[in-house]
Amino acid sequence: MDFDNSTIRYNERLEVKNYLPEMGKDQLAEKIWYGLQSTPKSIPSMFFYDTEGSKIYERITELPEYYPPQVEKSLIPFAADALAQHLVGSDVIELGSGDCSKISIFLDHVPTETLQGLRYIPVDFSLSAIVDSAYCLQSRYSDIDIMGVVGDFLSHLSFLPNDKRKLFIFFGSTIGNLERHDALSFCEQLAQSMSPDDLFLMGFDMVKDRDVLNKAYNDGEGVTAEFNRNIINVVNSLLGTDLDPMAFEHVAFFNESESRIEMHLKALNDLVTITSDGKRLQIEEGEMIHTENSYKFTLDGMKDMVEDSGLMLERVFSDDKGWFSLGIFRKKR
Ligand code: AVI
Repeated sequence: MDFDNSTIRYNERLEVKNYLPEMGKDQLAEKIWYGLQSTPKSIPSMFFYDTEGSKIYERITELPEYYPPQVEKSLIPFAADALAQHLVGSDVIELGSGDCSKISIFLDHVPTETLQGLRYIPVDFSLSAIVDSAYCLQSRYSDIDIMGVVGDFLSHLSFLPNDKRKLFIFFGSTIGNLERHDALSFCEQLAQSMSPDDLFLMGFDMVKDRDVLNKAYNDGEGVTAEFNRNIINVVNSLLGTDLDPMAFEHVAFFNESESRIEMHLKALNDLVTITSDGKRLQIEEGEMIHTENSYKFTLDGMKDMVEDSGLMLERVFSDDKGWFSLGIFRKKR
């Protein structure tokens, strides 16, 4: 390993650049406190993903009720085949890359000759996720060059290399966890970073029967409930409070008019706790803390959203039931 400020070289074919200024504990605590003081109360969903939360999320992705990962994985080979030509000599930039499971399916469908000239650029908040995933990929595809970027894909797009044709990938319908204006501004920034012959492959979850949606976020084993409640542990560790996660009920439902799943934590009784810097937090019995939105899309809704931001949907792959889609987008001419 050698260091040069923000770059770590792990081996001949793997380096990682870090653009993420360490967000101090105080700033994070402030963010949480702000939401808990608002009416209605809320906690930003980014706080789900501490080490424990990320492990619980992995378990969610294996649940039979939580269909998005399975359906998306079944669509990836079709998208990869359609993109094979575009990939020759390109950079593949995966935003919010996480583990190597989806990108491996994608790369398995890229012809070996094309893989040889390919550079894979995973972008994620977590250095360890990037490094683990990179080693996993290097063990499968020895010819691939990897340049990891530790950063926030909402604000670090302009730091990404721009010397080759690019394919941006954003799997997982994470776009659905952004509020409309953030999703729009993400697409706008992406459109600005794209050259006319770059492409963007994005997964998005579709509006469907409300029972299917409600079950996906209220699984029988209670894993999603555990994931939702774990955010209280994160609050406790950042604010120094002593809230009991089990003092909250997991509530998740499809809000039809907003076209989104909402997740909340409902207080089962009156709660009072004091933060490490002496502030008093009071939560009333029955009060709801809003922890996540997960927007569901129609094809027309997605087309309209991206068109407003300077992108256009060129091709779409959906499963037979129309539950999930992978779209290929390009910059509007
Ligand atoms: C990460 N994201 C796309 C998931 C979703 O479906 O919105 C997060 C999640 N929340 C509960 N279950 C899964």
